[in-house]
Amino acid sequence: MIMFSEPTTSHRKIALVTGANKGIGFEISRQLANAGVHVVLGARDAQKGEDAARTLRAEGCDADSIHIDLGDIASLAEAAVDFERKFGALDILVNNAGIARQDDGPPDTASPDAVRATFETNFFATLAVIQAFLPLLKTSPSGRIVNVSSELGSLTQNADPAWAFAEHQLIGYNASKAALNMLTIQLAKLLAPSGILVNSADPGFTATDLNGHQGFQSTKQGAAAPVRLALLRLLRPHGWLFQCK
Ligand SMILES: NC(=O)c1ccc[n+]([C@@H]2O[C@H](COP(=O)([O-])OP(=O)(O)OC[C@H]3O[C@@H](n4cnc5c(N)ncnc54)[C@H](OP(=O)(O)O)[C@@H]3O)[C@@H](O)[C@H]2O)c1
Repeated sequence: MIMFSEPTTSHRKIALVTGANKGIGFEISRQLANAGVHVVLGARDAQKGEDAARTLRAEGCDADSIHIDLGDIASLAEAAVDFERKFGALDILVNNAGIARQDDGPPDTASPDAVRATFETNFFATLAVIQAFLPLLKTSPSGRIVNVSSELGSLTQNADPAWAFAEHQLIGYNASKAALNMLTIQLAKLLAPSGILVNSADPGFTATDLNGHQGFQSTKQGAAAPVRLALLRLLRPHGWLFQCK
């Protein structure tokens, strides 16, 4: 049986959520803060990040913001140094920032530029964020990494003609999330001895700017799986793609 629990130690956990100025990332930040975590909202537009953090503080949350731009991989090491200087510790890293492009599509027509740009953010830059923040995360007594992925990244689902999203043949987006899931599995194995739990979370089809608000779920529902995995206390699941239905 899988069990989830919020941390019970007196240590106030510190979380970083990338792409947290809006959408699912903002709601993940709110739910983590409501669970007693000091949450730091990462945003590529520093003003939008601070505005979002201010909104959460007005609700009584312990929230701050930091500038993190996945479009500038060279800046990420500096962002990690800045984070450590300001906050001193990191227990939970939620890799939420992601894009989907209109000119992505099936393999025969997708814009190669769109495929490359989608991989840049959803996979390469996410890998770079992990590498930049891992040294600090390793100093946590119970580190957690949650990669916000998607069912669209499942090879099994993509191979099933009866799958509900079988028409969603976005070679850039789907393949970038499949690569992200591979990263989760390899990282989970690598970090197991250090006690850091690594999982992928599928928010489900959620109404946000990413899909022109066509999703069936609210961001509150979409944030549920990432938040559960971020607050995981037991030594499993680990290296899974987890959905909260
Ligand atoms: N919505 C769904 O149905 C669904 C389903 C499965 C998985 N997901 C995943 O959930 C995550 C959040 O998506 P969402 O639906 O909440 O979309 P969203 O509302 O468009 O939010 C995406 C967030 O990522 C940020 N971002 C994009 N590129 C960035 C970059 N280069 N550097 C820093 N931040 C960047 C955006 O910042 P800006 O505001 O500056 O653009 C925004 O804060 C994504 O990884 C997405 O793939 C979504």
